[in-house]
Amino acid sequence: MLEDTGQRTGVAGLPERIRVEGGHRLKGTVLVGGAKNAALPCVAAALLSPEPVTLHNVPEIADIETMFAVLEFLGASAERVAANSITVKAPEITGFSPPTDLVVKNRANFLIMGALLGRFGKAACSPPGGDVIGQRPVDVHLAGFSALGATIGREGEKFTAQTDRLTGTRIFLDYPSWLGTENLMMAACLARGHTTLVNAACEPEVECLGNLLNAMGARVRGAGQPVIEIDGVEELHGTEFTVIPDRFEAGTFAIAAGLTGGDVLIQGAAPRHMDAVIAKLREIGVLVEETESGLHARGEQDLSAASLQAFPYPGMPTDMQPPFAALLTQASGVSYIHERVFENRMLYVAELRKLGAEIITTGGTTAIVTGATQLVGTQVRALDIRAGAAVVLAALAATGYTEVRDIYHLDRGYERFEEKLTSLGAVIEREIVVS
Ligand code: EPU
Repeated sequence: MLEDTGQRTGVAGLPERIRVEGGHRLKGTVLVGGAKNAALPCVAAALLSPEPVTLHNVPEIADIETMFAVLEFLGASAERVAANSITVKAPEITGFSPPTDLVVKNRANFLIMGALLGRFGKAACSPPGGDVIGQRPVDVHLAGFSALGATIGREGEKFTAQTDRLTGTRIFLDYPSWLGTENLMMAACLARGHTTLVNAACEPEVECLGNLLNAMGARVRGAGQPVIEIDGVEELHGTEFTVIPDRFEAGTFAIAAGLTGGDVLIQGAAPRHMDAVIAKLREIGVLVEETESGLHARGEQDLSAASLQAFPYPGMPTDMQPPFAALLTQASGVSYIHERVFENRMLYVAELRKLGAEIITTGGTTAIVTGATQLVGTQVRALDIRAGAAVVLAALAATGYTEVRDIYHLDRGYERFEEKLTSLGAVIEREIVVS
């Protein structure tokens, strides 16, 4: 398996770290950005049309920049036309096989397969990279392409897919893979005839992609539900579309409020996408209310231990599991966390332990947290996007200073993270690592 080889440096080309002074109560209003995991498939979907597609609410994060680079390699262009708005133009494509060193920076880059296969009948791509949280195969994607009539092969490290034209069919997904569902939706939009995807991923970001595809002239029904029906069309046209808010970013700020005894208005959050997170926050003792503009989270009472299991949507998102672990270090009693999506998403436990958390893992998919523990600042690493969020959150509740290294992971997924936390009263500084 290819390891994550994401960029290890900040904008200045040098490794960066953040220093967090713990113990400050967060208070104020924060604006949630567009969802990374909705924006990435939307950018890829723009390849399905020769006409321009303008997307609003696209976060300015490293993973989006990487996908722009992939698009440019293919002969398309992605241009920022305003803050958080981009226009993708792909009147024609000159490359069908992006370089491996780009693809491995971000798992969503594999979405070019479905888009190129759907529109041009050919694509090649290395196994994608992304966070090191488990095996993360792409068999669901490839089996689906094959069912649609593509010939799947291997050229060196790259998977290849080729067909004269895809033909719609009924496909059962072995696992409701999120990106797998999105790849197959994109491919099926321009296939001949009707496609049914059974056991599809139900994440709101999948629904968002379905809405974009329909705005481009596709005929997709049921995106966001386990069975998706797609009638193939001859071509897709350009459009203008707004990406949904980032439910993981919103959840992260709600946890930050809970951890610091804070009072935070999370503007732009979509509570409809956050049932599992809101229910668990309330069970733990964080006061969460829906407001007209988003969510209001307050950490005004003692926190209690709770158990949670990470599941595909609408279950507790695996992406929120590490941030919840940070919260549960401040909850009285013993909490159990079960990771049911990835087999290796508990590496962050060792980093929380450096801060003094009483947390152990058994078998790599269960963590037991005993709280409340007084955390103490020290040097830790952001091991992936959400593991990075977990250590920053824990640092907000720790005494003294915490130094978080490898923050390029945070930059991949969180837009202006420390700037937003600072606006709420956190004390965080970004520094270049000189040693
Ligand atoms: N799986 C297979 N075969 C496949 C694909 C997946 O067995 O062909 C298994 C995986 O090994 C894993 C499970 O299915 O055990 C879930 O994987 P899935 O394919 O659903 O994950 P993904 O599509 O690769 C997306 C998000 C992740 C998020 C997961 C799970 C994007 C870009 N990534 O990944 O987000 O954790 O779904 O919900 O949408 C993040 O944003 O930090 C992130 C890692």
